[in-house]
Amino acid sequence: MLRGVSDDVNQALRDEQQRFEAALAEVNDADALYELQVQYIGKKGSVSKLRGRMGKLAPEERKAFGMAFNEVKKAIEASLEGRKQAIAQAAREADLARIEDLTMADTMSAVGSIHPISRTRRELARVFRKLGFDVVDGPHVEHEEYNFDKLNIPPTHPARDMQDTFFVNGEGGVADSRLVLRTHTSPVQIRTMLGRKPPIRIVAMGTVFRKDDDATHSPMFHQIEGLYIDTHVTMADLKATLYRFVSAFFGADLKVRLRPSFFPFVEPGAEFDMECPFCPTNAAGEKLPHCSVCKGGRWIELGGSGMVHPKVLESCDIDPQAHSGWAFGFGIDRMATLLHGVPDLRLLFDGDVRFLEQFPC
Ligand code: PHE
Repeated sequence: MLRGVSDDVNQALRDEQQRFEAALAEVNDADALYELQVQYIGKKGSVSKLRGRMGKLAPEERKAFGMAFNEVKKAIEASLEGRKQAIAQAAREADLARIEDLTMADTMSAVGSIHPISRTRRELARVFRKLGFDVVDGPHVEHEEYNFDKLNIPPTHPARDMQDTFFVNGEGGVADSRLVLRTHTSPVQIRTMLGRKPPIRIVAMGTVFRKDDDATHSPMFHQIEGLYIDTHVTMADLKATLYRFVSAFFGADLKVRLRPSFFPFVEPGAEFDMECPFCPTNAAGEKLPHCSVCKGGRWIELGGSGMVHPKVLESCDIDPQAHSGWAFGFGIDRMATLLHGVPDLRLLFDGDVRFLEQFPC
């Protein structure tokens, strides 16, 4: 019997299906699977092409071929889909296998919280930025020249004594001076004046080091320094700024008091105190005598301040005839204890998580 066109086409269809199944068995990833799909049942795929040959069939054979064609195409589609699922499942399983044990206990460590000193620094920065100050930084290891000489602290000054200052071995001090761990934040005044032209309005915060260690002194503590240089700057600007600062920081209208004092880098120099914001009051708002913070003194000592000494301006190439300015410096740790009601300064540096946990973010 002569093989008709129909037989040829049907045979071709079956051949393609077989070839497809054989090829499918080799496929293990989604890309190859897609290629296979295009190759067989895509628009120009080998199976799709057979459909074009339907026109050559006798009308009575067309129906049977059409049905056979649709069946084969559906079977191929089902096989593709089945394999697609299997490949996706295998990928999921491989992912899961990489995670060693899903039931393992959670090993994420506690996130922790921001240290009271850091929080205080952030709060100080926020308040001083609002008052128009830039927040700048300086190194902990400092040139002796910047820490002392340019601040009008002569070589014979007792502050340089080995008992106060940590000297650092190594090269690199300017003008042959040695390196020290900065004993205060005041060298940032020098760095700023050497690097910027007036008007200057900065605060600098950070760790400072002194060689003493007892119940009320830590060899490492924190200071903030303020510096304002412009034309016609006076002590009144200093007092007004300190007043604005303490009032904003403690959220109350607090007076500031300046008491004459001596620091080599300011003239005149003053210690500054703020009105105690913690004194208990009676119903009429009058302060009661017993306050655990100021011990009834009504004032809390904060730090030192004064008009920048002309010699200091000169040491930084600023003409004291044309410019004047003030500076202040005080301890941040004290601020942090006051702000957060911490009874003992040393708690801040013990690193005891039971203490630190009490300051959640
Ligand atoms: N640097 C001084 C100290 O550490 C404080 C101070 C700063 C005083 C600025 C006056 C002006 O004690």
